[in-house]
Amino acid sequence: MLRSKVCDLLKIEYPILQGGMAWIADAALASAVSEAGGLGIISAMGTDCERLRSEIRKVKTLTDKPFGVNLMLMSPGVEDMAKLVVEEGVPVVTTGAGNPSKYMEAWLAAGIKVVPVAASVAFARLMERIGASAVIAEGGEAGGHVGDTSTMALVPQVCDAVRIPVIAAGGIGDGRGLAACLMLGASGVQMGTRFLVAQECGIHENYKKKILKASDIATLVTGRRSGHPIRTLKSPLARRYAEMEFDRSVCDDQLSGLRAGGLKKAVLDGSESEGYFMAGQIAGMIREEQSARDIVRSVVSEAEELLKRCDAWLV
Ligand SMILES: Cc1cc2nc3c(=O)[nH]c(=O)nc-3n(C[C@H](O)[C@H](O)[C@H](O)COP(=O)(O)O)c2cc1C
Repeated sequence: MLRSKVCDLLKIEYPILQGGMAWIADAALASAVSEAGGLGIISAMGTDCERLRSEIRKVKTLTDKPFGVNLMLMSPGVEDMAKLVVEEGVPVVTTGAGNPSKYMEAWLAAGIKVVPVAASVAFARLMERIGASAVIAEGGEAGGHVGDTSTMALVPQVCDAVRIPVIAAGGIGDGRGLAACLMLGASGVQMGTRFLVAQECGIHENYKKKILKASDIATLVTGRRSGHPIRTLKSPLARRYAEMEFDRSVCDDQLSGLRAGGLKKAVLDGSESEGYFMAGQIAGMIREEQSARDIVRSVVSEAEELLKRCDAWLV
């Protein structure tokens, strides 16, 4: 049976986290993943305090297993949300887009396991120093906000640099990805794109169809000029942004206006013309909508089979 340090740390059955996804990762998805033995995570981005509190309470009615909340540290209202996770007794907090150091003392005092996302070795080291329980090393293959270094290169370097458990993210979609990340030294994985097509994931059906039809080269990164690169499916809007980004006559405000609210439009309306369909490169491998339970179980059993056969490589 597959178990790792991350299972003991987060009190979960399998070393699989469902990534926080703005506007998407709600109580329904998070509780389904937690019930399946992974760690379901509610996203705070795209909500307000009242909604976040109600989603947390909803998860608790749907599962008695651990779950997490993801906070994007540059998002509005994050200070209040940082207090709210303490008040509501959230067991795990993952963070993105910034340094959570100013919240650490309160979170650690409340017994919260803090697991920041890191896209570099230096940031992972810093997170370990300020008391993170584990770190998510996320490579540039991932959907959403991305760094430059690929998962294959980043994960072993982060594993060498820190003593806390490392969770690999970016480009993992099946048991081969999980087994490979364990070989790189990680103690678990976080998947986002694969869970976009979970039956319990409430995104618009156009969004799901686009993931299921995606090829290996279906994504692109836009926003490098603004310093906020985002990986998304190629769409009319994403292509227009990419073209305008290289046009020096286009001002920064015009660019940011173009992408604003695009993920929400993709999630709620499935709008082909105005939607920003964030997804990772692994979308090209995802071919069916399944329950969160089937996703978690199939990834684990495939990884177990592969790991059992590992000595076949040795002669
Ligand atoms: C649509 C979408 C939205 C995301 N939003 C967030 C977010 O709000 N906060 C965060 O920390 N990560 C976010 N991510 C990253 C995921 O949590 C996860 O780390 C990533 O999807 C893993 O790579 P993968 O897409 O290759 O599975 C998002 C990813 C996607 C696909």
